[in-house]
Amino acid sequence: MEIVHEPSRMRELCDHARREGARVGIVPTMGALHAGHLALVDEARRRGATKVVVTIFVNPLQFGPNEDFGRYPRTLPEDAVLCEARGVDWIFAPARESMYPDGFSSQVRVSGVTEVLEGVFRPGHFDGVTTVVAKLFGIVGQSVAIFGRKDYQQWCVLRRMVRDLDLPIEMHGMPTVREVDGLALSSRNRYLSESERARALAISRGLRAACEAFERGERDAATLTSIARAPIEASFDAIDYVALADADSLAPITLVEDRAVIAVAARIGKTRLIDNVVLSEDRIPLPA
Ligand code: PAJ
Repeated sequence: MEIVHEPSRMRELCDHARREGARVGIVPTMGALHAGHLALVDEARRRGATKVVVTIFVNPLQFGPNEDFGRYPRTLPEDAVLCEARGVDWIFAPARESMYPDGFSSQVRVSGVTEVLEGVFRPGHFDGVTTVVAKLFGIVGQSVAIFGRKDYQQWCVLRRMVRDLDLPIEMHGMPTVREVDGLALSSRNRYLSESERARALAISRGLRAACEAFERGERDAATLTSIARAPIEASFDAIDYVALADADSLAPITLVEDRAVIAVAARIGKTRLIDNVVLSEDRIPLPA
């Protein structure tokens, strides 16, 4: 496995591999890798990638001024060990200056689907995400890209970008990988103390309860969201949103008639967690 820092070198490796007949898979991350990220690597292989690049870049553009850019975990040596063991071919870990050199002044912005949910609470966040991912796609070139549906809105936004801009990228989304007790894996779980981690389980409990109500036939959005909300309200310090939305457009809905997603963002202390379930598609098993 090679750890690549220079965009030009990364492009050269991918171009060369494709000339030799390889299919390149890309898994964009910010590092602090966990089993959720590694499942994306496996999915890239399942989707036929013969060379897999994991990108690791804590992208300053997607963090707000009062967010956790400074303290976001940076664990490249540990990440490299995990990637190597998983059979990753290349890690692309560019320096900030090679991604955003002096004079950098472009931006990729998707409208509509970015303006709800996270878009309301993290202004500018998705512009940072789409800009960096467009750059990563530009560097790596034609490839199959794997994203997690843990960041459900990000997945919708990036799919929109690839379609709108005719990027030569085949997009695949992976279901959320959870701990056995239901907590969605996240690099930000490292911020939680033991007692906060126990409280954080309220999100998966709430989402599970909403799924169960849906399976019993409940279709009213206000009822489903209040079922999801109750345990979260009791355990979290603040809720940004618990919302039911159309699973494609993310437009708010009042009655579930089609594919719908319940999305949650809530805070414990300084830690902000997000999670979601697509009703009738996603399962959150009860802890054994
Ligand atoms: P990061 O939070 O590191 O996540 C990288 C990828 O891993 C994303 O596609 C995310 O949805 C996926 N992921 C995270 N936790 C997961 C879980 N529990 N199960 C399945 N997939 C999971 O998302 C970002 O980085 C950045 O915004 C990025 C796209 C890299 C742009 O900077």
